[in-house]
Amino acid sequence: MTGYIIDWLQILLRFFHVITGIAWIGASFYFVWLDNHLRKPESPELKAKGVDGELWAVHGGGFYNPQKYLVAPKELPADLHWFYWESYSTWLTGIALFVVSYLVNAKTMLIDIRVMALSEPTAIALAISFLVIGWVIYDLVCRWFQNRDTIVGCIVAVMMIVISYSTCQIFSARAAFLLTGAVMATAMTANVFFWIIPGQRAVIKSMQAGEPVEPQHGKRGKQRSVHNTYFTLPVLFAMLSNHFHMLYSHQYQWILLVLMMLASALIRHYFVLRHKGLNSLGTLAFAGGLIAVVMVWAAPSAPVVAESTPTAASLAEVTSIINQRCVPCHSDQPTLMPITPKNLNLRAPGAIEANASAIYLQVVQQKIMPVGNITEMTDEERGKIASWFETVQN
Ligand code: HEC
Repeated sequence: MTGYIIDWLQILLRFFHVITGIAWIGASFYFVWLDNHLRKPESPELKAKGVDGELWAVHGGGFYNPQKYLVAPKELPADLHWFYWESYSTWLTGIALFVVSYLVNAKTMLIDIRVMALSEPTAIALAISFLVIGWVIYDLVCRWFQNRDTIVGCIVAVMMIVISYSTCQIFSARAAFLLTGAVMATAMTANVFFWIIPGQRAVIKSMQAGEPVEPQHGKRGKQRSVHNTYFTLPVLFAMLSNHFHMLYSHQYQWILLVLMMLASALIRHYFVLRHKGLNSLGTLAFAGGLIAVVMVWAAPSAPVVAESTPTAASLAEVTSIINQRCVPCHSDQPTLMPITPKNLNLRAPGAIEANASAIYLQVVQQKIMPVGNITEMTDEERGKIASWFETVQN
């Protein structure tokens, strides 16, 4: 029953996370687009009102005419729309999903004993501290180098390389990829929570008090908002990448992730420039080049398993290997997991033959099962499964 509930939590949280993420990033994309397309108003009336940019758009059968005021309008409108719940709810559902997928199952999902033999509490504490420390360092860098964007950009890039490398030296690679994305995603939401929204509130407060509005708030908010623009695609890539073994199970997985995140940021940059009327195909080509490098580098090499067994293994031998190495998880009463993963019960009669190609794929070709090699399967055993599979095939 708990397994069933965990499965439901997984799908519902994932569902909400994707919905709120679309709402957040959708609004963010729209406002970046809007900002970059605004034109200086020509009408004296608008200028007198304090409008600094405007545009016309048509969508869904209606015409829209957004206007941007520099700093703030002279009078505060009674009904003002805010954008923050999209961000907060994306983060909250993301963290909940991380808890349900990785922390509840820390032994199989977060820890990989081949990488580092951590205890569950240590692994969980380390994972959480990455999120907190990542934000603290990033925030300090932004404060120290307030007006020096290039320095901030370089330090943040180095910081992300260090995080990708160090998470891959501590956790299972899938968890490492996810955490690397989550550090950035946490910084994005924290930017909204600690800087952008408080800055806007401060502006409104001074307006209500009839005091002059300090442009500093707007500048700070803008800095964080620009960062969020460039974090979006790298975060999305990191979140999706942990489903693809050709990336995370590579020997230099942390470099592959860094390159893909860099390519994603460049793609975002291309669009930001394009909004401003600049079609920088070089930027796009460079990003494409990086992706091509990763594709070539991550391509599967020669068969993983040596032909160690001269004669093909029998089904009885394979069954005994699977009983020892797989059944602790893949049975109707798993001992290593709360639920039967993917509902694949390898103890059921005929299950091994019926799933022969899936087993071959996971165990021989991709080597991702047993998860984290928690049951310590040997290469010889993988070789036996390979030889058995090849005879079944013929
Ligand atoms: C520690 C528990 C654990 C062990 C041990 C384990 N698995 Fe898995 N297995 C999983 C999990 C978890 C998944 C789901 C992975 C995912 O969601 O990507 C899975 C997925 C699979 C799948 C993919 C099913 C599908 O429909 O996508 C196959 C096939 C598989 N395992 C075979 C094996 C074999 C063969 C062994 C033994 C060599 C093994 N597993 C050992 C936990 C385990």
